[in-house]
Order: sequence, then structure tokens, then C-alpha cells
Amino acid sequence: MTATLLDGRLVSDLLLKGVSHKVSALKKKKIAPKLVIILVGDNPASLSYIRQKSRAAEKTGIICEVKNLPASTTTKNLVGLIEKLNKDKKIHGILVQLPLPSKIETPLVIRAIDPKKDVDGFNAYNLGKMFLSKEFEKLAPCTPSGIIKLLEHYKISVAGKNVTIVGRSNIVGKPLAVMLINRDATVTVCHSKTRNLTDYTKRADILVAAVGRPNFIKAAMVKTGAIVIDVGVNKVDGKLVGDVDFKAVAKKASFISPVPGGIGPMTVACLMENVIKTFNI
Ligand code: GUN
Repeated sequence: MTATLLDGRLVSDLLLKGVSHKVSALKKKKIAPKLVIILVGDNPASLSYIRQKSRAAEKTGIICEVKNLPASTTTKNLVGLIEKLNKDKKIHGILVQLPLPSKIETPLVIRAIDPKKDVDGFNAYNLGKMFLSKEFEKLAPCTPSGIIKLLEHYKISVAGKNVTIVGRSNIVGKPLAVMLINRDATVTVCHSKTRNLTDYTKRADILVAAVGRPNFIKAAMVKTGAIVIDVGVNKVDGKLVGDVDFKAVAKKASFISPVPGGIGPMTVACLMENVIKTFNI
């Protein structure tokens, strides 16, 4: 078997076109949607993510301002800035790029963002609402949303499927598990302490790798015909690679998302969708 590619570039372009139309409609009403991204320090991976987010905003007509603060910024300074941005009616979305320097108390920073402007969907209010049902997933985290939208585009239903997620982060694994349960999947979440990981990955009709280790998922860990979603963003010898041993796994899977060009662009497109969604909550 050779897997069909789940083309995140193609699907994200379609989503961005939809966002552009909505931005044009808002501009006709004299509203200019604006996103503010806060970067503390100069983490190279964060800089690269922010470049992609700014580029997507530009494509859709969303105004994107990046506020770059020094690594010495305190929690108090950062919370103060967020409170100012919360009050500013010309700003519709606020995103604090993670990770923050270790001295900053990240939960306090995320809590400071007005839930209505929380386009990352990381605030406890927005995460909590997701537990209720699909209808309450208004500002949902962008990577899980991107995965769901990519599967939807390829008409892959998750209802009744065994989905194994490897990785339990607050950004990907945990919210994705909730969103899949909301869509009637049978979900297993594995992590670094999971025993006999292959027992779980081999059972998966849909396998999601969000581990952060290059080529971690080998062909022997994947069921023939499985759908494989690679969320990994790893640099090896200056090249971007995922968490999945792509070449070998693509021979065994029915569908696979590549890195780059899979979940990355979908995440960015869902962020732009979230900026527009802030107008309807
Ligand atoms: N760092 C890695 N992924 C993300 C994300 O989706 N949002 C933010 N704010 N920071 C990140």
C-alpha cells in the first residue's frame, strides 16, 4: 500500500480563502480585524512560527502586529501589557507565543487573556467549554482544529474509529482527545510513561504522533491501512522532519500527513479562522 497524502498546504489555502472573504465583509463594515502576537525573547522556533502566522495574516487581510519583548520581561509586565490589549477595542485576537522564558509564570499569563480574544484557545474558560460538546468548541486550540479539518476535507469520519494519540500536551494531545470524543471516536492517549506503546499504536485506525522526537513512530508500530497524522516539528541537520518515519510508514498507511506541508499550515489557517470567530462570541 502507498498512502494518499493529506495535503495541509492545499487545504489550508482553501481555509485562508474563506477567511479572506470574511475579512473583506468586515472591512465593508469599517472593521479591520487585528491580531497581536507577543514574543518574549528570541527563541528561533518561535520566530519561525511567528513568521508563518504573520504571512498568513497578510494573505487574508488580517492586521498582525508582533510585539517583541526582551527575555528579561517579568510576569507582571507581561500581564500588564495583556490587560491593556484586552481593553483595546481595535484588537480582536491576542496570542502569546510559547514557550515563555522559565522565569515567567505561563499559567498566569494565559489566564490574563480575555477569553473572547484568546485565539489560541488556551484559556481555561475556552478549554473547559470544549468539554460540553462540539457546539461549544468556539475558540478551540489551533492544532487539534487543524487535524479535525484536514480529516474532514478528506471525508475521513472519526466516529467509531480507534484513535491513538501519542502525546498528552495541553496544546495538542489533551484538547484533541476531547474534540475526537465529541465526534464519537474511541480515544486512547499515550505518553512517555505508557507501557508497551506498540500495543496501542498498532490498534489505531487513526494514529496521531505529537511526541517531539524525530522518526519516533516506526512502520512496525502502525497497522496496515491506518491513517497517520504527524504533528512533529523537529530539526535534523537543518531539515524539518516529523515524529513519523515517513518513508517506511507511507508504504503501510492508507493516508499520511507530511512534514512539512501537513499539520503546520493547518494550524496557522485555524488561527486565522479563530481571529474571525472572535466576532461571533
Ligand atoms: N508554541 C508551539 N505551538 C504553539 C501554539 O499553537 N501557540 C502558541 N501560542 N505557542 C505555541
